Amino acid sequence: MTMGSEASQANMRDSLLEIAQSGVLAPSADNQHVFRIELGRSSLCLWPTPEFASGTPHHRRVLGLISLGAVVENMRLRAGELGLGVTTDWLPAGSNGPIVQLNMHPTSPAPIDELATAIAHRHTNRRMYHGPDLSADEKGRLEEAVGGIPDIKLVWLRGDARHRALSLVWRAESERFLRKPLHEELFSSIRFDLSWHESASIRLPLGALEVEAPMRPVFKALRHWPLMRLLNWFGAHRLLGLRAGWLPCWQAPAFGLITASAPDELSFTRAGAALQRLWLQATLMKLAFQPLAASTILAFDPVTHEGASKEVRFELAKGWLSLVPGATPVMVCRIGRALLPTRTSGRLPLNNYLGGPH
Ligand SMILES: Cc1cc2nc3c(=O)[nH]c(=O)nc-3n(C[C@H](O)[C@H](O)[C@H](O)COP(=O)(O)O)c2cc1C
Repeated sequence: MTMGSEASQANMRDSLLEIAQSGVLAPSADNQHVFRIELGRSSLCLWPTPEFASGTPHHRRVLGLISLGAVVENMRLRAGELGLGVTTDWLPAGSNGPIVQLNMHPTSPAPIDELATAIAHRHTNRRMYHGPDLSADEKGRLEEAVGGIPDIKLVWLRGDARHRALSLVWRAESERFLRKPLHEELFSSIRFDLSWHESASIRLPLGALEVEAPMRPVFKALRHWPLMRLLNWFGAHRLLGLRAGWLPCWQAPAFGLITASAPDELSFTRAGAALQRLWLQATLMKLAFQPLAASTILAFDPVTHEGASKEVRFELAKGWLSLVPGATPVMVCRIGRALLPTRTSGRLPLNNYLGGPH
């Protein structure tokens, strides 16, 4: 290897590490990424963690694919800033190989996508939002961010459609407190070992949940299933679903839905790329943003004891079908104006995400 090629190889490695870091900054459903990154000479391979490779329950797989779409979009944006073009190969599920491979190649100078500058500043904001409403220009800029992704649409839910979608969100969020496996999934993603003032580099810090101070001891106690089950006899799950889903979406100035053309793996990754672009654009516009997955994702679960009940899945699927006939609803989000989040989630150091197959 000549000195020149050694230097360019070292440069490429630095770039790959920066691109990997940007991928890690992308969101995942409960702040636990489902991949490990293998660095090649001029490529990155994302390998599934064993839990993700096992593929169950189905809604966890869908959430992982959406997050992967966001991760790859971040990587693509950062590569563009570094003067690299990316070709992306998504590999078939169940092939025992990586999930996706990104090949970098130097590209002729192109305008840098401004969204890349928002990667480090994007966060979930679970505060209550306020107006004024988004202007037509603001909505237009958000739509434009999603515009180029094949088969993906951003639908603004307004008027009667908004009321009907709010009921679906309420029903689905309530289900997360009513069914034992969903309750366990929800509460195990929260860092009860930390105080309300601490951040967490993996899973969700308590402070990021924006639970009102008087409610905090109650919320902590609800992680115990026997108590939750008892209170559910008195309708506690409905109250919690109202506070976690219906209320914040009802009072947000904008309520949107990302749809795909089909419920297949590639579509979920595309929807993830769209989610990320929308979120980055909102961040650039200093707007607060929260995705809410339950109302769309739980409807995808086949009949198992792990997900939502059969009745709820049916109700969600029927409700969305009447709202967006022919489309696959993937992710609801609320957008508005708010103070910055009280606490945000961090990430583990990059080394924790590097490595090949297990
Ligand atoms: C696929 C997906 C689903 C998510 N679902 C929800 C949700 O239902 N409710 C919520 O409050 N946040 C949701 N989030 C936000 C994540 O909890 C959040 O991104 C993660 O904890 C990391 O925090 P950060 O966004 O501040 O970096 C979701 C994110 C992704 C990518």
